[in-house]
Amino acid sequence: MTCNIASAFKALCLSLLFVAVASRPTFRPKVFNVQSYGAKPDGKTDNANAFTKVWKNACERRDGSSKIYVPKGTFYLGGVEFIGPCKNQIEFVIDGTLLAPANPSDIKQDTWINFRYINNLFISGCGILDGQGKQSWPLNDCHKNTNCPKLAMTMGFAFVNNSRINGITSLNSKMGHFNFFSVHHFNITDVTITAPGDSPNTDGIKFGFSSNIHISNTHIGTGDDCIAILSGTSNVNISNVNCGPGHGISVGSLGKNKDEKDVQGLTVRDIVFNGTSDGIRIKTWESSASKIIVSNFVYENIQMINVGKPINIDQKYCPYPPCEKKGESHVQIKDLKLKNIYGTSKNKVAVNLQCSKSFPCKNVELIDINLKHNGVEGGPSTAVCENIDGSARGKMIPQNCLN
Ligand SMILES: *[C@@H]1O[C@H](CO)[C@@H](O)[C@H](O)[C@H]1NC(C)=O
Ligand SMILES: *[C@@H]1O[C@H](CO)[C@@H](O)[C@H](O)[C@H]1NC(C)=O
Ligand SMILES: *[C@@H]1O[C@H](CO)[C@@H](O)[C@H](O)[C@H]1NC(C)=O
Ligand SMILES: *[C@@H]1O[C@H](CO)[C@@H](O)[C@H](O)[C@H]1NC(C)=O
Repeated sequence: MTCNIASAFKALCLSLLFVAVASRPTFRPKVFNVQSYGAKPDGKTDNANAFTKVWKNACERRDGSSKIYVPKGTFYLGGVEFIGPCKNQIEFVIDGTLLAPANPSDIKQDTWINFRYINNLFISGCGILDGQGKQSWPLNDCHKNTNCPKLAMTMGFAFVNNSRINGITSLNSKMGHFNFFSVHHFNITDVTITAPGDSPNTDGIKFGFSSNIHISNTHIGTGDDCIAILSGTSNVNISNVNCGPGHGISVGSLGKNKDEKDVQGLTVRDIVFNGTSDGIRIKTWESSASKIIVSNFVYENIQMINVGKPINIDQKYCPYPPCEKKGESHVQIKDLKLKNIYGTSKNKVAVNLQCSKSFPCKNVELIDINLKHNGVEGGPSTAVCENIDGSARGKMIPQNCLN
């Protein structure tokens, strides 16, 4: 596998830029090639120890930044943890393939490759994280089997600030591909995420208790949410993302557990959803334990191609019915703008706005919506409004139910 031409060109430009910068000696990072630490690209030797040793050396280097380099080749890797704080910034360049154990019980932690307590981590390259999830997917039955095996997410970041990922590909995760917890100021660009549409719980990018996250120029096709935004997250900017197959860009599910926090400030712009079950989605549990606010969201310039439910606010979320009915959702949704959302809906209900009876949605603005029904039922698309206060202007297909 090689990087595509665009990113190869970009890499060339970057390396030219780097040459210019590197002529000032203090900026030159020390390179830690994993092969110099005994890693073998034979696809079967477990390289976890070699990678951990490389990390330790790179992280402890005091006098200048470090660059960890994974060259082309297939490096089999058991579960690894890369823990900071580090003395300096770390570039982690992956041009090869990292191959996960196929047997899920060979990863004895909840994340295959886990980064914690780090500032200034820059992951890039044209490499692949191959989660080898195929053998695990049939075992994913936790909603009905309490003895279900624990399956690892591919790459996790916890307590990581001022960092980014650029260019790499994540393939066939066992559970989610990228998971973020308590991460602040993080950019994800030019990333490709791929798993089959029917692989269970293979969320693309998922984050909670995080802020100032930018995701752009990224292609996500997977079996669960392309992007999931969870409790305690603020200032998220998602642009130029292709999503499909998958379950769309979801906020939630929210409200189920105690100690959840507000979700505020989300911009989702220039997105194509292609063949996804949902597009724009906010889901909150019907019987919620926490009383939180979801506010200041903008969704703009969004194309829907054969999307099951293009716009879906569901405050009666219940994935495995019957659910305990302990009353209405206590999540307050307000200040939402949806502008220039167009394309085709597989369901007749293209716009579903079902808010909480106890905490009706406030200030929801629809501007230029054009979603045609192309499903088997036939007939025009429709909209559902429940417990919602808002306004609509511009083109409105389906006919709006707000004003
Ligand atoms: C990361 O950023 C958050 C929010 O700005 C801050 O509270 C936290 O202390 C930072 N962590 C580190 C290790 O710098
Ligand atoms: C993330 O991207 C924003 C906008 O392009 C930029 O201002 C910021 O410096 C970037 N942060 C990191 C950690 O790369
Ligand atoms: C989001 O990111 C895009 C692309 O980097 C940028 O043009 C836009 O200004 C950002 N929007 C916000 C609200 O930060
Ligand atoms: C949407 O997905 C279908 C099926 O994978 C593909 O053939 C088509 O080219 C995609 N359309 C766009 C505009 O990406």
